[in-house]
Order: sequence, then structure tokens, then C-alpha cells
Amino acid sequence: MKYIDSKDAPQQNNGVIKLHGAEGFEGMRKAGRLGAETLDMIAEHVVPGITTEEINTLCHDFITERGGICAPLGYRGFTKSVCTSINHVVCHGIPGPKKLKDGDIINIDVTPIVDGWHGDTSRMFVAGKPSVKARRLIDITYECLMRGIDVVKPGATTGDIGHAIQSYAESKRCSVVRDFCGHGLGQIFHDAPNIVHYGTPGEGVELRAGMIFTIEPMINLGKWQVKVLEDGWTAVTKDRSLSAQFEHSLGVTETGYEIFTLSPEGLNCPPYAL
Ligand code: MF3
Ligand code: CO
Ligand code: CO
Repeated sequence: MKYIDSKDAPQQNNGVIKLHGAEGFEGMRKAGRLGAETLDMIAEHVVPGITTEEINTLCHDFITERGGICAPLGYRGFTKSVCTSINHVVCHGIPGPKKLKDGDIINIDVTPIVDGWHGDTSRMFVAGKPSVKARRLIDITYECLMRGIDVVKPGATTGDIGHAIQSYAESKRCSVVRDFCGHGLGQIFHDAPNIVHYGTPGEGVELRAGMIFTIEPMINLGKWQVKVLEDGWTAVTKDRSLSAQFEHSLGVTETGYEIFTLSPEGLNCPPYAL
């Protein structure tokens, strides 16, 4: 695997891993904070009766009013500013006129670009009162994300991250989606390397200080297989089981990691209505 100082790198994903310096980390802090603030803002709006289109507009306006650009809008033909993935939708749900119902669970995925840097983050939210199994899936998925993050340090590998996530998910009789992965990012939305959410310790790409990437496990209550609907975006579980996802953007430091997308309000994982 090749690594390059990001200052010497072409602004494209050519498979070489960029190592970012202080400037990149500072840029990611600002973009990541706006992403986290957007999700903090939307939390109270996720209630039965709201449409995903309204969620999209609230997030879009919040981001643009603060000088950000919504990376998903126009990305490879995506027509909205955020992704909204309800219940058995795994990822890349397209906002529209569908209203949330009591007990629905939804992933909202935002990526503001601030001064050229991408703050990619998503969380689960619940409209009204979720079922016991939905709650359990959300808690397991959040734990998967944090266990994956916790092994990040120079010398660890992407296989270590995947193993931490997969072993926990499967110990809870859940499955890890294979078709989508985390990714390097920075001034590019989707960059090398891929961060897969399953794997074997010691295998994959070695992590080095200065790498910036997302971890964004998608965990299913049933089997891991997914299919993409006719719209070319919406990925759903083949067995229609519930799916959940959380995503942080982080950087590798000399001693471990720095998460750029932590919630200023401590809303990283949803509090549940009783
Ligand atoms: N935010 C998603 C990710 O985590 C990517 C969405 S691409 C879009 O990588 F076009 F669907 F917005
Ligand atoms: Co991402
Ligand atoms: Co995302």
C-alpha cells in the first residue's frame, strides 16, 4: 500500500492513501463540527408525521446558512442534500414525501463541505416509541462503531477495525453489511482506503498517523445481503429485516485517533422516549 503526504497528492482518488497534517485536521474539525451540529439540530424534529423531504430541507438550510455546502447534492446524480434511511433501508435513502410513523427508526447521513473539507457523519433517530428489537439493534450498531474506532492507532490495520465490529455484531446474532464500507476522506468525499466493517486482525491496510477516514457500520437484525432499488440508490435488506448505521469521521493521531464529528450536545446515540 502506498502513502503520500497530502500536500504532494493530486486532488483525486488514485488509490494512494493521503497523510494529512495539522491543516487538514483543523479543516476536518470545522467540517465535522458542522455535521454533528446539523444532526443535533435535527434530533427534535424526528417525530411521527414529518416527511423525509422536510428533514432534508431543515438540514440543507442549516448547513448552507452556516457557509457549508451539502456534498451529497448532485454527487453522482444524487438529487438531495442528505440521505434518510428508514427501517429496512440500509443506506442512501432518498428524501421524499413519505411521513415517519410512530416507531420508525431512521438514519440521517449528512456531509457538509466547509472550506473544502468534508464532515461525513450519520446517526440513528427514532420517531416516537421504538420496538424493543429496534432499540436493541440501534444500541448494538452504536457499540459496533465505537469498538471499531477504539482500535484505531498507528500500526493497527483496517482488518483490526473490521474484526472489532464483526465479532461484536455476530456475538449479538446480528450481521454486517458487506456491500458498503467506510472510506478515506478530506478534500475528497470518497478517497482511499476502503474501510470494511468485517475482517481478520492484522490483515488489510496498515494505519498511519495523518490518515483521515470514516467508519460507518451498517448492521442488520437478519441476514447481511442487500439489494438496491430501481432508483439506483436506495439499498434495502433482502430479507426486509431492520438495519441501522452510525458514522463518524476521524483522523489517526500519533497515539490513537481524533473523532471530528462528536455531538456537542452529547446526542451521539439516541435517548429513547419511554
Ligand atoms: N454520506 C454517505 C457516506 O457515508 C455517502 C452518500 S453519497 C450520496 O459515504 F450521494 F448518496 F449522498
Ligand atoms: Co461516509
Ligand atoms: Co455518510
